[in-house]
Amino acid sequence: MLKTHTCGELRPTDDGRQVTLAGWVDRRRDHGNLIFVDLRDRWGITQVVFDPSASPEAHEAASQLRNEYVLQVRGTVRCRPEEMVNPTLDTGGVEVLAIEAQILNPAKTPVLYINRDVEEDESLRLRYRYLDLRKPRMQRNLILRHEVVRFIRNYLHDRDFIEIETPILIKSTPEGARDYIVPSRVHPGRFYALPQSPQQLKQLLMVSGLERYFQIARCFRDEDQRADRQPEFTQLDLEMSFVDRQDVIQLTEGLFTELIQTVTPEKRLLQTPFPRFTHAEAMALYGSDKPDIRFGMLLTDLSPDLTDSEFRVFAGTLSSGGQVKGIRVPGGGSWPRSQFDELVTTAQELGAKGLIWMVVEGTSPIALRSPVNKFLSEAEQQAIVERMQAEPGDLLLIIADAPAVVAEVLGQLRLQMGRRLNLLDDDVLGFAWIVDFPLLEWDEEEGRYSAVHHPFTAALDEDLPYLESDPARVRAKAYDVVANGYEIGGGSIRIHRRDEQQRMFRAIGLTPEEAEAQFGHLLQAFEFGAPPHGGIAPGIDRLVMLLANEPNIREVMAFPKTQNAVDLMTQAPSPVSEKQLRELHIKLDLEPQATR
Ligand code: AMO
Ligand code: AMP
Repeated sequence: MLKTHTCGELRPTDDGRQVTLAGWVDRRRDHGNLIFVDLRDRWGITQVVFDPSASPEAHEAASQLRNEYVLQVRGTVRCRPEEMVNPTLDTGGVEVLAIEAQILNPAKTPVLYINRDVEEDESLRLRYRYLDLRKPRMQRNLILRHEVVRFIRNYLHDRDFIEIETPILIKSTPEGARDYIVPSRVHPGRFYALPQSPQQLKQLLMVSGLERYFQIARCFRDEDQRADRQPEFTQLDLEMSFVDRQDVIQLTEGLFTELIQTVTPEKRLLQTPFPRFTHAEAMALYGSDKPDIRFGMLLTDLSPDLTDSEFRVFAGTLSSGGQVKGIRVPGGGSWPRSQFDELVTTAQELGAKGLIWMVVEGTSPIALRSPVNKFLSEAEQQAIVERMQAEPGDLLLIIADAPAVVAEVLGQLRLQMGRRLNLLDDDVLGFAWIVDFPLLEWDEEEGRYSAVHHPFTAALDEDLPYLESDPARVRAKAYDVVANGYEIGGGSIRIHRRDEQQRMFRAIGLTPEEAEAQFGHLLQAFEFGAPPHGGIAPGIDRLVMLLANEPNIREVMAFPKTQNAVDLMTQAPSPVSEKQLRELHIKLDLEPQATR
């Protein structure tokens, strides 16, 4: 090695030791005669002193140093005088007096601040990702990610799981997103798809009798990018045979609980065992299927009290199958009027027709300040205050609309209010299970039902008889694990019989021929003794994002892509040569504006 010690290693007990360090110049301070260099490597920073009276050659080399030069130094460890000790550095009790210094590589002035924690333009950071990853924050994130994956591997290994790789070039697997496809050179006009997940392959491994499989699996989905979505991302993909929902849930929960206690002990788990909500409960209470349960402010249904209201917004909505629901914002009543108007605008932008706000000024007698209280009877106002357990000073936000709109808008407003009132503690992880998802949902565009999770998910036994007669009421043996408002993972017990799988394909509008063409291999496999099986796939990126307190998954991926799926560092996607296209039997037909 070009170094005997790391830059995070030396302590006062090393006083007098001859050492060689190598790393990057984090900072140079010229004190006329003496030059101080903070030398940085992955493990930390050590101060090196260049004193011309100790070594004129080393001092001369040091005078040429700039930030991010790669440097090797041989020298002597010495304790710093009491008043010079730097308590913010692990190595702050010592410094190395340089005897010999060699510049291993100079560096241009870095385009990013490596040694300062400042907000920088993300496109610049992504373009120079290799520099961005020198920052302590990014190195911490990558190391944390490594620790998470290492823990997962050990945990599952100890429980008899085997890690199996599955191919990246496969046949299209529907997971609800668009496929990335790869043209075949040897089979003109044919394409591989990159896996949206190894779903069918892991099920086939269960047919093979492997019983307990996992993989740290890369998945590819061509979908709109968001803070928690990337075109390629990583799942902990796992599958088990001879299990029921409870088994998969227990294994996953045990893994997460121990992982967090071991890898990020500074995090507090809000509740163990993780609370469970049915999909219907989560939607009713939180307006979301991935609720942030770190705070209350639950959605309260006011519909029963308002069916006979004179107020046409309420009466009209309720008579046409809608709901009236509200949230109570403690203390929000003291905010200025202009903020209430902004909330109305926000609600409308989120898709509601309007928003009713009420400031509670008194509860006995009832005194509400609101643009609509003149339309509400004394009894209705009383009922609203009681049902919402409102207190003077509270702000009530009420929406009347179709159930889906009420859930979406109030759910979002709830999150905004929680944030505004500082109710979201980053050091707390509010894990929960959401179960009993609907199996199918009506796809307006396609004019048919589609699978909410994926079409390999089994129905609840008691609901299966309704698959043909009343598809919308059938619930699935599916479960999501959520935390702090994010969907961390999803899974299900699968269909393992050919007839049931065919029935499911029929329910989502596939003809027998289409089902055979797309999924013939799976249907066939189910005829050769497929065991009951189920599994789950937590997203590693999202989990690490939460553990690292980062606002998006790009911060925990080494080389992520931008919101529009571009790698700014390598400039992918990029054109390919005519020759490559010819070999692949591909002719481009580009609209003029698309050639940019
Ligand atoms: P699902 O599609 O729910 O299930 O995905 C599982 C988990 O993967 C993560 N995830 C993503 N992370 C980052 N970027 C994306 N674009 C992205 N898409 C999904 C989420 C999500 O919860 N095969 C099934 C699992 C199973 O049934 O076992 C599947 O892929 O954290
Ligand atoms: P309008 O008579 O349409 O002006 O509505 C009277 C009040 O009710 C206004 O404050 C609107 O913002 C509000 N409002 C209208 N529609 C809804 C709705 N669907 N849910 C909640 N408030 C609404």
